[in-house]
Amino acid sequence: MRLAVLCTAGLVLAATAGALRAQPAAAPAERAERPERAEQAEAGRRVYISSCQRCHGINLVTNGIGFDLRTFPPHDRARFDRSVNQGLRAMPAWSGTLKPGQLDQLWAYLGSVNGWPAEAAAAASSPP
Ligand code: HEC
Repeated sequence: MRLAVLCTAGLVLAATAGALRAQPAAAPAERAERPERAEQAEAGRRVYISSCQRCHGINLVTNGIGFDLRTFPPHDRARFDRSVNQGLRAMPAWSGTLKPGQLDQLWAYLGSVNGWPAEAAAAASSPP
């Protein structure tokens, strides 16, 4: 009986931990093949959660406020930099808030969630 109670408690804990980790990090295959890119994407995920998610939704799935970033064109890094740095209509400008390198990280995160080819995700940032 005591064992059953302990087991149930263990299952509940495991389920809670699983729910807390519900947002996937970079894909495992990518982590193995290109560790530096996966690190960028993971850093970008954290920036995204703290700065962008409230308008753009969990895992880039729009919540109806911001643009659906799953549909952002992978070949248009310049547009990404311009829109994020300067803002666009209801979106505030981020150039004064983001630290150097964070645009690259966000771009890598978009690439990892959207499954973009490595060349697109690796494209260098243009200055603000
Ligand atoms: C206060 C809400 C809000 C926050 C926070 C926010 N955005 Fe946005 N974002 C928007 C809205 C609204 C649009 C749609 C703008 C339009 O087209 O009118 C948008 C559009 C965009 C676009 C598409 C721009 C284009 O060229 O069409 C990108 C890329 C983007 N956001 C990235 C980000 C990133 C990265 C962050 C975090 C650093 C962020 N946003 C944070 C509201 C927000």
